[in-house]
Amino acid sequence: MNESVVAKLTDVSKYYGNGEGRIAALDNISFNVKKGDFIVLAGLSGSGKSTLLHLLGCIDKPDKGQIIIDGQDTTMMNLEQLAPVRMEKIGFVFQSFNLVPVLTAYENVELPLLFKGLDRKKIKNRVNEILDELGLQERKGHFPGEMSGGQQQRVAIARALVTSPAIVLADEPTANLDSKTGADIVNLLVELNEKKNITVVLASHDSVVLDRIKNIVTIKDGKII
Ligand SMILES: Nc1ncnc2c1ncn2[C@@H]1O[C@H](COP(=O)(O)OP(=O)(O)OP(=O)(O)O)[C@@H](O)[C@H]1O
Ligand SMILES: [Mg+2]
Repeated sequence: MNESVVAKLTDVSKYYGNGEGRIAALDNISFNVKKGDFIVLAGLSGSGKSTLLHLLGCIDKPDKGQIIIDGQDTTMMNLEQLAPVRMEKIGFVFQSFNLVPVLTAYENVELPLLFKGLDRKKIKNRVNEILDELGLQERKGHFPGEMSGGQQQRVAIARALVTSPAIVLADEPTANLDSKTGADIVNLLVELNEKKNITVVLASHDSVVLDRIKNIVTIKDGKII
């Protein structure tokens, strides 16, 4: 496989429901993500954007087709076998931040590294490095409930990046933010993409995103158009 391809989907379909009620959330799509790409998945509600992110992120499996993530063919893996792939290779950013409310910003960012079982010193250095990079040092003792939406999303981005994943997936990351704060979050992701070559696939129908990012892939009824 081409070294620069971090995700390769070939003839992938995902169905929900049975019989007459069966719908193709994704209908035989092929799609490549290259190292350093910043791709926006656009399309109407229900078009299949989140479904595609979930497959890319190894949260769910396709019913048909092949998915290779960072050189690893996941086709024959079950969800249990996919979990370590997800932990090693994927960072996820959600619409509603999904921080753990009883943990501080620092502890939220630390969590993925604790799951990986790194030693304490390495964890501390890496968490502080990413908090520095994202300008979050002043917030590190704050709980999610003590931070604005934009600050919480910044912490969530730090949590997604702390493991240095091959690919960062973001599902409507600006949808719960006002347009100014949403633009700040998009600009942060663009800066990380440009300066650190971080690969981003982001689903959105927010004009704040669509006006800023050139590489837009539109999905309609489970197909890329
Ligand atoms: N767990 C599920 N069970 C049944 N149907 C589902 C499930 N998840 C998604 N679907 C269906 O699959 C299709 C694609 O949904 P998906 O969530 O991927 O759309 P989306 O583009 O992310 O929409 P939105 O912009 O509203 O987030 C929709 O018809 C949806 O109803
Ligand atoms: Mg969605």
